[in-house]
Amino acid sequence: VTVAAIVPAAGRGERLGPGQPKALRTLDGVPMLVYAVQALARARLVELVVVAAPLTGVAEVEALLASHDIGAPVLVVAGGEHRQDSVARALEALPPEVDVVLVHDAARPLAPSELVDAVASAVLAGHGAVVPGLAMTDTVKRVALSNTGPNTGPDDDEQAPEQVLETVPRSDLRCIQTPQGFDRAVLTKAHAAAEDTATDDAGLVERLGLPVVVVAGSADAFKITRPIDLLIAEAVLRERRGSGAR
Ligand code: CTP
Ligand code: MG
Repeated sequence: VTVAAIVPAAGRGERLGPGQPKALRTLDGVPMLVYAVQALARARLVELVVVAAPLTGVAEVEALLASHDIGAPVLVVAGGEHRQDSVARALEALPPEVDVVLVHDAARPLAPSELVDAVASAVLAGHGAVVPGLAMTDTVKRVALSNTGPNTGPDDDEQAPEQVLETVPRSDLRCIQTPQGFDRAVLTKAHAAAEDTATDDAGLVERLGLPVVVVAGSADAFKITRPIDLLIAEAVLRERRGSGAR
């Protein structure tokens, strides 16, 4: 059995603010894509990493990764318009011998290699689709979406108060991370059947009515979305260095 990991890295990172595409933004001077690819490549079970690069930057990303110690072979393809297109392109580039596929966001650079192996192991143990998840910590409320309220355009920071409908019990809710792991045939079928976009790959598998299981996620696998997440990530790196971990 051959395990490969796909890294969608073609997003612009609009919520992070102006600058480089998010995957190329740095943590302590090193682009987060490098951390994400290293975390996958250093996992015991991963034999190949395929990166879906920002549309214009395949050669740039190849050069970047060649200049770092990665630890596994890496293939770079051009990403697509949406995350799902980027994953689909990387899937097409997988060599025939690959039969387990992990999909991991470049935007989750600090996911531990142990988490990568745990997800891959669960697929190898026979689960067709595996996602890491964490219990929620905030209280969750459902609100009335209003289109009668004040018109809040994308540049408008003022949001009208929203009416609360209910508090949602959260004991059976999970916040889902990556890496997500799949039997290759399951993921390929799910992508081929996709009519519109899902927010994650497992969502496409669910649409086929196929089972998806949740394994324990990791706090370190958080997604870098907003500027404060860069500060948190650099603090985690400082803590790791201080404790002698890599
Ligand atoms: N992604 C991708 N191709 C796209 C859009 C997103 O490969 N067309 C990737 C991103 O690079 C990221 C992951 O999907 O690693 C998760 O997406 P997200 O966190 O939304 O990143 P961005 O789309 O870059 O950020 P934003 O939505 O704030 O612009
Ligand atoms: Mg996005």
